[in-house]
Amino acid sequence: MKNSSKYKRQYFLPPVECMDWAKKDYVEKAPVWCSVDLRDGNQALVIPMNLEQKIEFFKLLVKIGFKEIEVGFPAASETEYTFLRTLIEENLIPDDVTIQVLTQAREHIIKKTFEAVKGAKNVIVHVYNSTSLSQREQVFRKSKEEILQIAVEGAKLLKELTEEAGESYRFEYSPESFTGTEPEYALEVCNAVLEVWKPTKERKAIINLPVTVQHSMPHVYASQVEYMCKNLKYRENVVVSLHPHNDRGCGVADSEMGLLAGADRIEGTLFGNGERTGNVDIVTLALNMYSQGVEPNLDFTHMTDICEQYESFTGMKINERSPYSGALVFAAFSGSHQDAIAKGMHWLEEKKPEHWTVPYLPIDPTDLGRNYDADVIRINSQSGKGGVGYILETRFGLNLPAKMREAMGYTAKAVSDHTQKELLPEEIFELFKKTFENKVTPLSVCEVHFTQTEHGMDTEVTSSFNGKTVTTHASGNGRLDAVSNALKQAYDLQFELVTYQEHALEKSSSSRAIAYVGIQKPDKTLAWGAGIHADIIHASIDALVTAINNR
Ligand code: KIV
Ligand code: ZN
Repeated sequence: MKNSSKYKRQYFLPPVECMDWAKKDYVEKAPVWCSVDLRDGNQALVIPMNLEQKIEFFKLLVKIGFKEIEVGFPAASETEYTFLRTLIEENLIPDDVTIQVLTQAREHIIKKTFEAVKGAKNVIVHVYNSTSLSQREQVFRKSKEEILQIAVEGAKLLKELTEEAGESYRFEYSPESFTGTEPEYALEVCNAVLEVWKPTKERKAIINLPVTVQHSMPHVYASQVEYMCKNLKYRENVVVSLHPHNDRGCGVADSEMGLLAGADRIEGTLFGNGERTGNVDIVTLALNMYSQGVEPNLDFTHMTDICEQYESFTGMKINERSPYSGALVFAAFSGSHQDAIAKGMHWLEEKKPEHWTVPYLPIDPTDLGRNYDADVIRINSQSGKGGVGYILETRFGLNLPAKMREAMGYTAKAVSDHTQKELLPEEIFELFKKTFENKVTPLSVCEVHFTQTEHGMDTEVTSSFNGKTVTTHASGNGRLDAVSNALKQAYDLQFELVTYQEHALEKSSSSRAIAYVGIQKPDKTLAWGAGIHADIIHASIDALVTAINNR
């Protein structure tokens, strides 16, 4: 990259230091949300939405809980005009939802916009003109004073037409390209507009400070916002709104810091759709608040459904790593992460704490309609005992001894490594059964009889090894020990019975039990077996035989 000298920083700092926002550490209260999916989002699509898709998208936004929705730029396109008329004429706008329409500060466009909203109950007319240095010089070739006049004339016309129509529409003004505008000048323009509107407590005005193009780090924007919040006239009757785009990837940071700086409202889109790198992603912003215990007043409980609808309406794809919404954002493949999550989940079950603090999961996936089995613990060659054990336990009710989990973890890892594939829960269960359950070759036990003695247990075991059948007598301190001794004796086997565990099977069978047996070989390594049977003695002998066959 040899051309960096071609670029310069294109933002302006406020004339005084505005860093009070930096003393706060989180957003304490949800802002007013305004979705601009149907305007900013739609205008950025390769193929803009058709009428039917827009109507369905509007219904989705209402269902999520948006109370302010920018429905388009009705003077700019026939589809947007028809869409708006359909919403109004077919009574599709709930009483508690306000529609917002965008217009440039130009007379004929403003007039057409007013025609388009006739009959709507709650309306915000959003007027804008561009104020940045580069737009003033290059696009409009107008002085500061002339640009200010465009804003003031637009504001006056909004007021006049509203009064003429006998309506009480609310007004919004955006100094477009605010972040490339000198803050003192942006303030002068906004205050001139407010002077026209004279907002009241009952009819507040919205001053929207767009990051039309992101030029700076988020703390610079926060300082600009703080400067505006501290110096706007009629501040108590002004809703300060933010509209961050995402050119530097800081849309969420701009919004969060801007809210700390005093803003009250956010304009953004679902999943950050919008011009170029998009608008701020409201899903992330809202769920960031949620994960810190602040109610966002938007409902994302059915995230998968929302994602599917969004993708079908817009033709866009949600990135698998998109915060909170991406398919892989709760997935843990790494062994150490899985282990920590599995332990965290056990802790949760055991202690029932008031707050969610499970490691590696910033929020509970089930709050978004996702589930632990399918979305969280995922097994591939990076995974380990914790994840595999967690799946066998939670999905199939198998509580393996710790060391056996390790063995099963290595088995799963090796298969995934070899096949270069993720293993699904069912495949893990099948692998467990194939590797560790009721293996009867080369050794199998045909018949067993026990006699209780004064010192323990005597047994008579008929077994077969590679097709040759023998009957052996032995004793032990319990049934399994006695059978183990009989088998050692019959085939001169060298091992020690070191682990025995059993439990009822609740998930895969109601009346059976599972026994796990670990034997230690002369080289001190372990071999494992499991047996499943209605009779626990039978299950434990099957587990022992399997462990011997797995030596
Ligand atoms: O990004 C922007 O500046 C806009 C304005 C019209 C608010 O979309
Ligand atoms: Zn925008």
